[in-house]
Amino acid sequence: MSPIVDRLRLVGIPGSNRVMAGELSRLARRALSEFRLEEPKKQGLGSVTYPFDARLGWLAVQHHRTSARVLWDLYESRAARLEPLFAELVAAGTDDSRPWCWDGAKLSVDAFGVDEFAAGERQVVGTVKNALIEAAAQRKIRLEVDPERPDIRVQVRLYEGTLVVSLDLSGRPMHMRGYRMEAGDAPLREDLAALLVMLSRYDARTEALVDPLAGSGTILIEAACLAKGRPVWMSGRKPDAERHPVFETFARPAPLFGDTAPVLFASEIDRHLRETMERTFVTAGVERDVAILGGDFRNIDPKLLMDRARARGVERGVIVTNPPYGQRMGSPEALWDLYRDLGEWCWQLKGWRHAVIVANPDFPEAFGGRPRIAKPLRNGPLRGYFYLYES
Ligand SMILES: C[S@@+](CC[C@H](N)C(=O)[O-])C[C@H]1O[C@@H](n2cnc3c(N)ncnc32)[C@H](O)[C@@H]1O
Repeated sequence: MSPIVDRLRLVGIPGSNRVMAGELSRLARRALSEFRLEEPKKQGLGSVTYPFDARLGWLAVQHHRTSARVLWDLYESRAARLEPLFAELVAAGTDDSRPWCWDGAKLSVDAFGVDEFAAGERQVVGTVKNALIEAAAQRKIRLEVDPERPDIRVQVRLYEGTLVVSLDLSGRPMHMRGYRMEAGDAPLREDLAALLVMLSRYDARTEALVDPLAGSGTILIEAACLAKGRPVWMSGRKPDAERHPVFETFARPAPLFGDTAPVLFASEIDRHLRETMERTFVTAGVERDVAILGGDFRNIDPKLLMDRARARGVERGVIVTNPPYGQRMGSPEALWDLYRDLGEWCWQLKGWRHAVIVANPDFPEAFGGRPRIAKPLRNGPLRGYFYLYES
């Protein structure tokens, strides 16, 4: 098995493989019309790979919202010890003419999930780093180690006994998009919010999307950006790929579905959070897409909400939300009442779907009805569920 590989890898939240692949396929159909996207290979629950193509890599690192990392896999090894790992990587790197690094570039190496390798994480990192530097030197390319301000970030991951060495195309996690300057106590991570919107099967051309428990508004921002195919990075943030010679001829990203006008509504009971949400909408550039209906969702008449959606040209809609789950919210009884009231409110929106991520086992019973989909989905350290209801 040659240690040289050439793959684009999307790493995401466990359970996101189908959605990540679906999102990339939608982006590629729009942006790369002549391109034939191959079926992805899945590795575990949160990782899909494709044959590497720089155009696809650029598209993913600039637009893909449900992935946590976009990587270019360069080498892999089934070596079980450090010495053969070093030897394999030096041999492969010396023969490798791909321009993934350049003379004088600063390098960092990080390892993830390598606990089952026969050596410790720091030793794996040190070995991979030394091998890459040694192989580059053989090709007269000087690489310097600089973990603080690297030009090139390398990641090492272990998948079923195979160590994979990849270049991180974004440089920082994909969820650090640049619009969240402040947030509530329990903001949903941006890639998880995007995943939730995708799982709800929201169609911005025909449906409204409402988050009645909007917090700092992450779900709505992600829905607006997905609808318009907006680039991921904002507020001057750029992915590492923009400094990379492989991508230097690619055009700056622009919205792919810029003429879509999503119909989005929010409510949030906490006044300070509502103000944060408004400011965040402005930073994210979605303030014209989302109407803030008010505070307590219980004071919003579902029939008037449906009328407002119709007035903006959509007959149907979807609730996408992330209710409080208990750690910070009062008594279990208060939480039960909130879930029950949310259910009673949602069920009045006839013909709508309701998509919820929640980490509280009481939710389904209190909300009522039977979910069409119940899928385990982690929210950070919390074991949660995604539920999809149809009314
Ligand atoms: C888990 S947080 C949502 C976080 C949000 N997804 C984000 O990314 O920031 C739940 C939110 O529901 C709000 N909330 C609780 N009861 C509410 C009610 N009756 N009406 C509207 N909002 C409510 C809370 O103030 C809290 O901000």
